[in-house]
Amino acid sequence: MQIFVGAILVIIALVLLFVILVGIFYSIDLFLDLPYVATQRNKIDTIIKLAQIKKGETAVDLGSGDGRLLFASAKKGAKAIGYELNPFLIALTLIHTKLKGLGNEVWIERKSMWTADLKVADVIFVYSLKKHIKKFEDFVFQNTRPGTRIIVNLHPFPDKKPAKSKNGIFLYKI
Ligand SMILES: C[S@@+](CC[C@H](N)C(=O)[O-])C[C@H]1O[C@@H](n2cnc3c(N)ncnc32)[C@H](O)[C@@H]1O
Repeated sequence: MQIFVGAILVIIALVLLFVILVGIFYSIDLFLDLPYVATQRNKIDTIIKLAQIKKGETAVDLGSGDGRLLFASAKKGAKAIGYELNPFLIALTLIHTKLKGLGNEVWIERKSMWTADLKVADVIFVYSLKKHIKKFEDFVFQNTRPGTRIIVNLHPFPDKKPAKSKNGIFLYKI
């Protein structure tokens, strides 16, 4: 009987811990510019095809989440740099980077994306809420070098015409 009660208490404690961690995870979003919404797996192929990433290029993800676009870019031979502030997502990206053996290809900058050095980028990924998309448009168009490709997920830039679009993904060329 005591073992049974002990097991129930352990289960309750684990569930509580899980609920607290999930609560902390989502409350971090309140302090950031964007909430965490991961790019759907079925869109990653479209993104990578539109980005036309070549070996040796540099891809930058502004708000890299769990790092899925960084890993997809690294698979194409790119150096992939993610800017992220959520410590859970940074930890997840670091763990996956280690497990995938991509320590030389994937970099995570624990800094605000608005401090990102965009001059190094051949490709930039943007996945924003509609209310911030103009800020992203100005930020990337003012800080990139000619030839950079910008991939925007979901909400297109309001004042620029995409070179291509497919499946809710928009490609812009500087
Ligand atoms: C819409 S999610 C996109 C995640 C990822 N790029 C993807 O496509 O799966 C936006 C991400 O930006 C991060 N974020 C929000 N504000 C940020 C800031 N000021 N600097 C860096 N990252 C930020 C959030 O933690 C979240 O992971």
